[in-house]
Amino acid sequence: MFQRVSVDDHVRAEPWLAEIEAQWGPAPGKEWTDGQHLFVLGESFGNVLVGIQPPMGYEGDPMRMLFEGGLAPTHAFSHFYRWLREDFRADAVLHFGTHGSLEFMPGKQVGLSGQCWPDRLIADLPNVYLYAANNPSEGLIAKRRAASTLISYLTPPVTHSDLYRHLVDLRAAIDHWRQRAADIEHAAEEAMINNVMALAVRCELCQEGVEWSPAEWAEKVSALRHQLDEIEEALIPFGLHVVGEPLKAEDRQEMLLAMAESGGATDIDAAAFARALKAKDAGSLEMVLKTAMQDAAEEVPAKLTETLVEAAATLVEDHELSAILRALDGRFIQPVKGGDVLRAPEILPTGRNLHGFDPFRLPASFAHSEGSRQAEQLLARHRAESGTLPESVALVLWGTDNLKTEGVSIAQALALLGAEPRQDSYGRVVGARLLPLEQLGRPRIDVLVTLSGIFRDLLPMQTQLLAEASWLAATADEDIEQNFVRKHVLAYQEEHGCDIEQAALRVFSNAEGAYGSNVNLMLDNGSWEDEEELADCYTQRKGFAYDRNGHVSQQSALLNRVLEDIDLAYQNLDSVELGITTVDHYYGTLGGISRAIQRARGERVPVYIADHTSGGTGRVRTLNEQVALETRTRLLNPKWYESMLDHGYEGVRQIEAHVTNTMGWSATTGDVAPWVYQKLSETFVLDDDMRRRLAELNPVSAARLANRLIEAQEREYWGADEDSIDALKRAGEDLEDFLEGVTGEVAA
Ligand code: BEZ
Ligand code: MG
Repeated sequence: MFQRVSVDDHVRAEPWLAEIEAQWGPAPGKEWTDGQHLFVLGESFGNVLVGIQPPMGYEGDPMRMLFEGGLAPTHAFSHFYRWLREDFRADAVLHFGTHGSLEFMPGKQVGLSGQCWPDRLIADLPNVYLYAANNPSEGLIAKRRAASTLISYLTPPVTHSDLYRHLVDLRAAIDHWRQRAADIEHAAEEAMINNVMALAVRCELCQEGVEWSPAEWAEKVSALRHQLDEIEEALIPFGLHVVGEPLKAEDRQEMLLAMAESGGATDIDAAAFARALKAKDAGSLEMVLKTAMQDAAEEVPAKLTETLVEAAATLVEDHELSAILRALDGRFIQPVKGGDVLRAPEILPTGRNLHGFDPFRLPASFAHSEGSRQAEQLLARHRAESGTLPESVALVLWGTDNLKTEGVSIAQALALLGAEPRQDSYGRVVGARLLPLEQLGRPRIDVLVTLSGIFRDLLPMQTQLLAEASWLAATADEDIEQNFVRKHVLAYQEEHGCDIEQAALRVFSNAEGAYGSNVNLMLDNGSWEDEEELADCYTQRKGFAYDRNGHVSQQSALLNRVLEDIDLAYQNLDSVELGITTVDHYYGTLGGISRAIQRARGERVPVYIADHTSGGTGRVRTLNEQVALETRTRLLNPKWYESMLDHGYEGVRQIEAHVTNTMGWSATTGDVAPWVYQKLSETFVLDDDMRRRLAELNPVSAARLANRLIEAQEREYWGADEDSIDALKRAGEDLEDFLEGVTGEVAA
């Protein structure tokens, strides 16, 4: 603890005491206090205080999570910033690392006044904010709502997952069979196939007891080999970024390779690539790239070569610490657009001030054609699974991916509806228009879009455009079997006798000034009994419809009715670095709506993830496939978890977060395979050495991880055998004892 401030002093100094007390009760409240004092947590180093931002305050209170409109921060929160300004008299504050709470405090969305909380809290204190280069959307909120100067930082290097353990054996067994099958007796070949199957079972790529007839061998083995390729080639983040430390040579190499692949050179000779880079030989590099992209246009390798040579040079040095110092000196920080290194290498060097976009150019015209292609890809995947075209689709939209792709996800929604952006005579996007049905060539699909609060704030015009597109479809004079929007809207009108404006509302988000579904917060602290509560939380928070004029109204009944018709839910992946098990927001939003659909319909619907993060044509995976892929390529992959454990305390916290997020998907979709939990238990808790390592690095997260797996078992997301669950419970208790200092070491 750095400081204790008496409650009397707080009460005297707090200008907005009445507002805070109305929300949180008499000072000092419950956070960071002993009842007599409020705490400032942190440690000082000379003139520098490394302080900890207090929590939002409602994390432990499920009812507040459901209904909180958010009227004031806690005593501790307001006190912390007042203390920084007035008592500590900081000359500047550096918010360290993406996504704090200050900029999400109650108040107007834009053009904040002195009555808005972020403005009250930060006041005239210069606010420098170190921010992930790939998260321009939340970064923009920090600029708009908390007057931040952003300094971009590099995301972790990415690398190929590669194969490990039994996956390597399985590949070898498959290749062995491929080489030998033609020349051997049937019995010998059968033995090889049995070996392949046994290994595939061990890898959870094939179910135990399944039989393949000899006629199926080639097809089955080829499908397995495909799955192995996908696992091996998947890009994963490798460790964590450390500010001030440039990438290690090998990591830089891997990152540049992934950038080259993303740029279209899909079949690179890695050794030649490395030699050319090392020698800084642009000529040979261009040759390597040219060979790796046979049918590309002539000039592409030249441009790609130039990009890679520049990137290789910038990645050698750190650009971030010097930028922080420049900002603290009150000097200019160069602007740069936000994005992913793979898709937008121009974000390098980092250490620059992230900026936004031109709202009148979004969706961009190339985004429209790409979005249409991707929408058809989604429909094709669904048709392959179910044999039908969906009538209604739920699409989750975030700000980040739309900013980075210049609106491809928005364009997907328009394409499903059979609409496109409408431009004015200056070429600015100002609304939507319908494509004729003959041109569309299939029925218009009803699209429920749920926006993150961030999307709603950053893209108000696009929010209206989406609402306009639904309205246009609903009011088009067309056969309802060719126009599912109209079909559902007319049915709703008939049921409820409302006007078509209301019945056609399809764009939902939080109440103005509120963010998040809070499903993730409920999950995280375990404060729920059954999954229905998660559905409730979701629809309470996201039950606000935004219309084509930008007006918002609470429309819970309509939302619940629209949910009944939804045939599938999906979301686009934002970047390679952030998988759906990396952060809790994916299951909070996509998982949340899936659970709400399930409740409304009384049955599960398919959930898809569209992955267009690393160039090429992209892929649409089922949720089950995506969780399995991330589990294999990240959590269970020694390459990934060792890269995390290299970062000690934080690495263990990341592993634990992935486990919790995995359970979030079970809770919201029920679609995580039980083997995932079995393997996670074996890898991180039941393995004595690993358990000890985790506990020594971060006992709190180690204990939470074990308890989460037990919770998953108690909630019946997997059926652990008696021995495993006993061992897990013993390990959990042991970790708790270690945490409380009862035992000095973790028992084997
Ligand atoms: C967004 O950009 O909309 C977003 C970013 C992080 C979490 C949730 C939403
Ligand atoms: Mg968060």
